[in-house]
Amino acid sequence: MKHTLKVTFSVLTATGLLLSACSSTTKTPEASKQPNTDNKPVATQQAAKKEVEIFSWWTGAGEEAGLKELIRLFKMKNQDIEVINAAVAGGAGTNAKAVLASRMQGGDPPGTFQVHGGAELNSGWVAADKVQPLNDLYEQEGWKDKFPKDLIELVSKGDKIYSVPVNIHRGNVTFYNKKVFESNGLQPPKTFDEFFKVADALQAKGITPLALGDKEPWAATMLFENVLLGHMGADGYKDLFSGKVSFDDLKVKESLEIFKKMLTYANKDHAARNWQDAAQLVAKGEAAMNVMGDWEKGYFTTDLKLKPNEEFGWTPTPNSEGSFMVVTDTFALPKGVKDPNTVKEFLKVLGSVEGQDAFNPLKGSIPARVDADVSKYDVYGKQTIEDFKKAKLAPSLAHGSAASEGFSTQVNQAITVFVTKGDVNQAAAAFKQAASSNGISK
Ligand code: GAL
Repeated sequence: MKHTLKVTFSVLTATGLLLSACSSTTKTPEASKQPNTDNKPVATQQAAKKEVEIFSWWTGAGEEAGLKELIRLFKMKNQDIEVINAAVAGGAGTNAKAVLASRMQGGDPPGTFQVHGGAELNSGWVAADKVQPLNDLYEQEGWKDKFPKDLIELVSKGDKIYSVPVNIHRGNVTFYNKKVFESNGLQPPKTFDEFFKVADALQAKGITPLALGDKEPWAATMLFENVLLGHMGADGYKDLFSGKVSFDDLKVKESLEIFKKMLTYANKDHAARNWQDAAQLVAKGEAAMNVMGDWEKGYFTTDLKLKPNEEFGWTPTPNSEGSFMVVTDTFALPKGVKDPNTVKEFLKVLGSVEGQDAFNPLKGSIPARVDADVSKYDVYGKQTIEDFKKAKLAPSLAHGSAASEGFSTQVNQAITVFVTKGDVNQAAAAFKQAASSNGISK
């Protein structure tokens, strides 16, 4: 791995996260209750019952298959532990994060919860003193050299490790419909110039060049962060979050111009679609390309049963070959959990080779562990595992790693306004303001 992922974060409280929530959680017991066959009072039996509640936003198509497989594996190994799948729908944690904040604040933490490595964990839950260090588990399981060093750093503060990564998603991928490209004699674009040439050619044939589903604003932020990565390079991109380069820098404004031009090639109903709806446009050949994290690969192969390299193809987003936008899903152990040892039993499976190889081939991500079984991954997975080793890594803003939740929320708002108004100076000023009010210095 060529590059450290760490940018300098200022320590912020999790105030942004600890807002009260508005939706409620559906808890699904994954194990059927044992019948009362002996004559012990029910209350005694319940008191002895072990359970683990897993909180995430992985519900529905394109999201839940990996988690369910992981739970199945865990149940096989731990028949005495009931699993409560407390997932809250909404891509990128749109609703789940607020529900989690409310539960944590109200003293009702889940057993374990999904959290992105980096700022979301460190400037959020660690700074707010809401999670427990897991060094003992890492020691006991011999994990310290089983995850890339950079990844362990992303889930650590000082010498304490606070969560267990289950995967690494790549965020800078253009997925495309192979048939649409081939039948129109087009090559997937590697640069912005090529993107616009291809987009013009597609438009001339009446095909929507770019599928977008930004009903949840993070999807537009994700497209923009990939433009920043392509236009500024991984180092330039990271300089923004360390405060070295200002968010109203000329390069940021140029990136906004490129982003604005890209938006003119998107489906008109983008604000009514979520990421799966946008992915479907590509799957059906109604649109040619979609910029998304590789959970879309999971959606295509696991849910839509499309064949990689036949029915869909992929290429890094323009100008980002050699860079890897890192989105890592990790699981943390909150303070105040009734039975931390039972939760650790789940984390052990999640952090094991077997657990990661059960989860990731379905989810579209690559294993976080360095010693996973590569033969379990398809052509996309194998290639991505190799790319990850060589690439310059960059932490995703839209998915919590680059900056605090407070900052990403404000950027999402500014992007939403930009998508409709297209005012470059206004957006850059809003980013700059958000950076200064969230402790990113310039
Ligand atoms: C990301 C998460 C992925 C995937 C995606 C869409 O934040 O890391 O695992 O679930 O959101 O919801």
